[in-house]
Amino acid sequence: MASMSLRFAFVLFWISILASTVLSDLVISKIDRRIDLTSQIVRVVSSLKVENRGHDTASEVLLAFPDIQAKNLAYLQSSHHEGKGKGKQSAVSLPVTLVQPEGMPSDLTFYSISLPKGLEKGKSFTLDVLAVFTHSLKPFPEEITQADVQLVVYQDSAYYISPYEVRFQTLAVRLPSGRVESYTKYPSTKLVESDIKYGPFENLPPFSYIPITVHFESSYPFAVVQELEREIEISHWGNIQVTEHYSLVHGGAPLKGGFSRIEFQSRPPIRGESSIRHFIAMLPPRAHSVYYRDEIGNISTSHLWSDSKMTYLQIEPRYPMFGGWRTSFTIGYGLPLRDFLYEADGKRFLNITFGCPFNEIVIDHLIVKVVLPEGSKEISAAVPFVTKQSQEVKYSHLDIVGRPVIVLEKTIVVPEHNIHFQVYYKFNNLALLMEPFLLISGFLFLFIACIVYMHTDASISKFSASYLAKQQLDEVRATVQQVLSIINRVLAVHNKLETSLRDLSRTGDVQSCKAARKAADGSFKDLAKELKPLLGYLQSSPQASQIWPKVEELLSKEKELQEKLMAKHSAIVDGFEKKSARREVENRVASIDQKLAILRQEADELLDTLDDF
Ligand SMILES: *[C@@H]1O[C@H](CO)[C@@H](O)[C@H](O)[C@H]1NC(C)=O
Ligand SMILES: *[C@@H]1O[C@H](CO)[C@@H](O)[C@H](O)[C@H]1NC(C)=O
Repeated sequence: MASMSLRFAFVLFWISILASTVLSDLVISKIDRRIDLTSQIVRVVSSLKVENRGHDTASEVLLAFPDIQAKNLAYLQSSHHEGKGKGKQSAVSLPVTLVQPEGMPSDLTFYSISLPKGLEKGKSFTLDVLAVFTHSLKPFPEEITQADVQLVVYQDSAYYISPYEVRFQTLAVRLPSGRVESYTKYPSTKLVESDIKYGPFENLPPFSYIPITVHFESSYPFAVVQELEREIEISHWGNIQVTEHYSLVHGGAPLKGGFSRIEFQSRPPIRGESSIRHFIAMLPPRAHSVYYRDEIGNISTSHLWSDSKMTYLQIEPRYPMFGGWRTSFTIGYGLPLRDFLYEADGKRFLNITFGCPFNEIVIDHLIVKVVLPEGSKEISAAVPFVTKQSQEVKYSHLDIVGRPVIVLEKTIVVPEHNIHFQVYYKFNNLALLMEPFLLISGFLFLFIACIVYMHTDASISKFSASYLAKQQLDEVRATVQQVLSIINRVLAVHNKLETSLRDLSRTGDVQSCKAARKAADGSFKDLAKELKPLLGYLQSSPQASQIWPKVEELLSKEKELQEKLMAKHSAIVDGFEKKSARREVENRVASIDQKLAILRQEADELLDTLDDF
């Protein structure tokens, strides 16, 4: 039923023209082909025996792929086993190049394999070819529900498409399981367990072709990284920091009818078999400081374990991923420098793997950036396949000219590309000292700046003239305040004397009035003693030169006040004792009081002025 609709779902490729010019010199006397469909990556392994039937020596063998397949060809490798007998053989890889031979069908893509030495007339040569394809399994039905099993379709030719006559051939298609919806049957086709066998076919002319379609169950999660950026940063201080940014999509049949976590968890036998629940990254041994995060933050559902050969990181996305779902995340880890950096011929070189550490993942676009230490020169990269190379500069703190970065880009990357590549560069060891030198000189500069600053500050605080002047002025001000407070106390004694005089006129108690006078005399003496050093200081201080006349004026006013007050006191007490006429005493005192009032006002004004100083 599904196979009926298949005819409409897919456009089969075909070869439009049969070549008129036949490369008659070579013949494929035998070919065994195995197509491995067990994962999302299709691998075709062919073992060919080529025979030269012409007169001229042959130096190349052509391989032909229909364009529709060639556009998904990720990796092509050819090798030859040297030596006789099993175990003594060693594989030698043969150069493969894309070619455009003349007079060939236009919808085929050709590759040429160079033979190690010319193949003479009548001789034969055996070689193996591995071709790896991505995006060649099409989900059908195109959408599935969470409970459905994923079915996919693969199409190819049962005959080996070749520009040469093929004498004898077989084909085996390996499936993930024996659960096959349908497959194209020709005479002698048989399904044995999970292998479909076609052939043998004999004596077929060049470009013979018959289509096959296989529709089968594949629960393999089709993890496709649309873009991966790997940054490998070398620090000569002993570490290589690797940071990998993934944007990943599940390339399998998109989910229809929404996702139910309850159903996902409660139906163990089915529960979205083709969904991606976790990945395992195989990192080099001694990887350290491993982390895994996405846009939201660090993801803790990751597990790390290691043995002597590998460090394994199992990561789990926040949700199981179904067909068409996307996610982006970053993993990062540190590696010991000595495991990957070597020296040869006066150059240093990094020797590390190119691809990503996850198993059976397809990468549509891979960018590998190798960040070299600042000051690296004569940079070159040696990659065993074609990549687009460019250079840029990365700046981080403490960099002056920036770090040179070599950028390698490649489209359609499969695990076969996860092989070692090298980045060579020259580096002057002195440049290694640049950063510490910068740091040390930076700190030194800071220290010197601090010392200079503190020194400057010290000279300000202890030796600067303006600072001294300010300090002296402050001292003068404090002294003036002390003088003012003593004068105020003197004036308070004045008030006490006045009070004693008023008491006398009320009570007539001359003795207590005299006692008050005596006490006042004592106070005046004490206060005069306190005042003396303060006045001595003010008189000698140049900072007090402006204020000194006012202080002197205040002192003389006070002295006058005191004299007048004493005179008043004596006059009244005398008057009492001599029982003088009240009127006479009052007359004498009135003129003194007038004088006292004026003096008090003048003293008050001086006190205010001095208080504001
Ligand atoms: C994530 O983990 C890395 C490595 O353990 C750590 O340096 C970083 O601070 C973490 N970030 C957050 C947001 O927790
Ligand atoms: C790079 O390392 C691999 C694996 O250790 C090794 O086989 C290969 O020879 C090294 N390449 C170079 C150029 O040293």
